[in-house]
Amino acid sequence: MRLNVRLPDGTAHQLDALDGWRVMEVVRDWGLPIKAECGGACACATCHVWVDPEWIAKLVPPSDEELEMLDGAFQVDERSRLCCQIIMSEALDGLALELAPESLADVPSERVAVGG
Ligand code: FES
Repeated sequence: MRLNVRLPDGTAHQLDALDGWRVMEVVRDWGLPIKAECGGACACATCHVWVDPEWIAKLVPPSDEELEMLDGAFQVDERSRLCCQIIMSEALDGLALELAPESLADVPSERVAVGG
C-alpha cells in the first residue's frame, strides 16, 4: 500500500507502507526528515501532519490524548493529526498528507527572534 507525503519544501514522496505500521514509522524509515522526538508515544507533537481533506473522514478519530498534544502544536487546523497515531491499513492505501514545518528535522528554529 502507498503513503503520499509532501514535505514543507513542496517535494512529494510516494512511500511503500505496511499494514499495521504507524504513519510516523513509515515516514521515518524511508528516511524523510521527521522529528518525531518521543518515538511515537503521543508525547511531543513533533510528528504533526496535515491530512489531505478527502482522507480525514477515513481515519480513526483522534484520542483525547492526541488532541491534548495537538493543542501545543503550531498551525493546527481541522486537517491536523499526529501521524504516530495513524495506523496504516488497507482502507488507508493512498493516504495523502503534508508534514507540518515544525515536524521537520534539522531546521534551525532558533533563527526566529523572540522579543527584542
Ligand atoms: Fe511524538 Fe508522535 S512522535 S507525538
